[in-house]
Amino acid sequence: MNYGGFSTCGGEYVITDPVPPRPWINYLGNRRLRAFISQNAGGLMWYKEPYSRRLTRYHYTAAPGDRPGFYLYVRDRKTNQVWNPHFAPSCIGLDSFECRHRPGVTEFVASFDKVEVAVRFGIPPGDDVMLWDVTVRNVGDNPRDLQLASYMEFGLLEFMREAVGWCYLKNQFSLRFDAELNAIRYDYHVFEAPFAPCMLFGCTERLDGWECSRDAFIGSTGSYARPEALMDHRELSNSDLPLGGHACAVEALNVMLDPGAEKSLAFVFALADDWSTTEALLAQYRSSDAVQNGFANLANFWNERLCRTVVETGDPVVDRAVNVWIPYNSVVGLDLARTISTDHMGTDGLRYRDTTQDALAVANIDPEFARLRMHQVFEQQTPDGGGCFSFFPDDPRPTSDSPRRSDNTVWQVYTIHNLIAETGDMRLLDEEIPYRDGTIGSVYEHIQRGLDYIWDRRGPNGLPTLYHADWNDGLALFQDEAAESVMLGMQMVYSCKLFRELAQRTRRAADAEWCDHVATELTKILNSDLVWDGRWYRRLLMSNGKVLGGAANAQGQIYLNPQSWSVISGVGEFEGRGRIAMDSVAEKLDSDCGLRILAPPFTGIPEPEDPPLGSNPGIGENGGIFSHANTWAIIAECLLGNGNRAFKYFRQLLPEVVSERMGHDHYQREPYVFVSSIVGPGCDAFGQGGISWLTGTANWMHVAIVQYILGIRPTLDGLELCPCLPDGIEQVEATRRFRGKDYKIHLTKDTAKWNLNP
Ligand code: GLC
Repeated sequence: MNYGGFSTCGGEYVITDPVPPRPWINYLGNRRLRAFISQNAGGLMWYKEPYSRRLTRYHYTAAPGDRPGFYLYVRDRKTNQVWNPHFAPSCIGLDSFECRHRPGVTEFVASFDKVEVAVRFGIPPGDDVMLWDVTVRNVGDNPRDLQLASYMEFGLLEFMREAVGWCYLKNQFSLRFDAELNAIRYDYHVFEAPFAPCMLFGCTERLDGWECSRDAFIGSTGSYARPEALMDHRELSNSDLPLGGHACAVEALNVMLDPGAEKSLAFVFALADDWSTTEALLAQYRSSDAVQNGFANLANFWNERLCRTVVETGDPVVDRAVNVWIPYNSVVGLDLARTISTDHMGTDGLRYRDTTQDALAVANIDPEFARLRMHQVFEQQTPDGGGCFSFFPDDPRPTSDSPRRSDNTVWQVYTIHNLIAETGDMRLLDEEIPYRDGTIGSVYEHIQRGLDYIWDRRGPNGLPTLYHADWNDGLALFQDEAAESVMLGMQMVYSCKLFRELAQRTRRAADAEWCDHVATELTKILNSDLVWDGRWYRRLLMSNGKVLGGAANAQGQIYLNPQSWSVISGVGEFEGRGRIAMDSVAEKLDSDCGLRILAPPFTGIPEPEDPPLGSNPGIGENGGIFSHANTWAIIAECLLGNGNRAFKYFRQLLPEVVSERMGHDHYQREPYVFVSSIVGPGCDAFGQGGISWLTGTANWMHVAIVQYILGIRPTLDGLELCPCLPDGIEQVEATRRFRGKDYKIHLTKDTAKWNLNP
């Protein structure tokens, strides 16, 4: 069955059944204050990063898996019936229900027993407030005596210390209702806390009751579905929490509505470093105009980013993906890296190589944001050119160098090149950014040292050393840090191509020559019999002389990435091998839902020196359909001129398409954002979606569809048009905002390559 669909213009995903197989979430936020929220208003709010500044609680391992969040309870004071416009947690069947997710805003519109409630949630740009904008309407013939109550649960800001030190730390904060401010005040004074923000939760209306104590609201026999304080005609107890403990923010008001009457109000959460700023923020958002303005600013914020590339291909599925959901997914991806979702528990920080890739297409959508993140990445680089595993720009935790990924610094030039192509501003290369030890280097030097770092650490066959893993985490399983990576070798060739262009433009002839030398050397090795297997390229040269990814192996015979990268890098131009390799991909790795990362999957330990299993066969890196890796195959097919195959690979992986094909119940995940992987063929669960939202897929897919299939590609010389359209898409109308001008573009299959130089 289907749980929802896109609005006509594609700008919203409308969930009409409140119980899809998993929470289907959206993200809110202004890059400081952030939250995610599901179709049941389950969710979590944090400030800057969720490890030391997690503001509200969300239960990751308790059943049911989407509690608590940002709840609005509606009680009929006469019948005492309690319900929620977001269905859960009371789970009272509603007469109508819609949850509308759109960029930066989630809105519920629901009705029950002749009362209609609309509530939308958003965090406006610029101000650290979360707005709950509520309208309640009596659509029946009798007057109604209603109570509305908010619920949000606070925990310790430090997620891990809540788990470990709760017994002591629970007494180091307090909540109380401040009658003068008409708001709940959350005082956090855990003495070792790295941050102690000042928080208020208020309402635009005078409140009739409140609870700061979760024990008082839920009670010992109650639940989120049936909080004791709302049962049996009780009144709220107006609890404060002076000694700390389990905290919540319940604010209630009574609303009398004549037939046809409606009432609007807003709950406002505000946060700042000092109380006077928090109070001022709350005061500012106490007016309905300010709340409406907040939502208008949010809509503008997203429109400015999404209007830069708008296409009409004649295929509405493609259009809504390209115009709204892929760029939206890309920007959220860069904002959060892999930190927090319903899957990620918010302990990991920003990953070096992931953040670099997540900035790739954001360079075309929000160049300033991409530039900022690349600065943060470069600041983590060591002066010898090495990267790191993860880092924490808003948290005092030290940068983490382990596990050691060999590909960290190969991605930098892709993003910087694209960023310069977008803005036309070569001066970015001269910007000075400190290395991790405080010494300074230009962006150009950061890139150069990053490439040197990989080049200097080659193995005996001349290819880059693997260390714990390259892009593919799953290779860590083989526990061969001295293995040599074919994929990384090919990526180095591509990096050298781009870096050579930058070197030439800035008249660094010796560096350009170095690039030629590296590319030539690597290309030779990559086309030697060590790496070329006959019909495709191998994946790893192991230090014991064995290879991974060869036809002679029983398992893991063919890996997707070296085939795609052989084309992207140009290594596969030799004797037409790129074409042969990509034909092998089509034959051996394609499925109804996308390309597998390898085949056949590893199933066990046939020999003592073989690796332990890792993921079950067909899952994730062990033969799953890895979405991120599919994007490179699309680019490769475009470069080979095969628009039909490229488009097939693109369209079959779109969340809307794959979730329809497999069925919403089986696929499980949001039909509007990518998953990192899908269970591969041969498994009972084939076609089931994995971790959603935070995956490198969105950014690379944006590049694959816009720059390669549609061929609207920024280059250092201007905007280039070089479409590779499939049969069935005969022409495309597009608008592209590029270097301050708006272009109207008409593409046909015969559009010859040409360049628009603004
Ligand atoms: C996950 C990781 C990413 C890695 C990829 C492939 O998406 O977050 O860092 O490159 O898997 O293993």
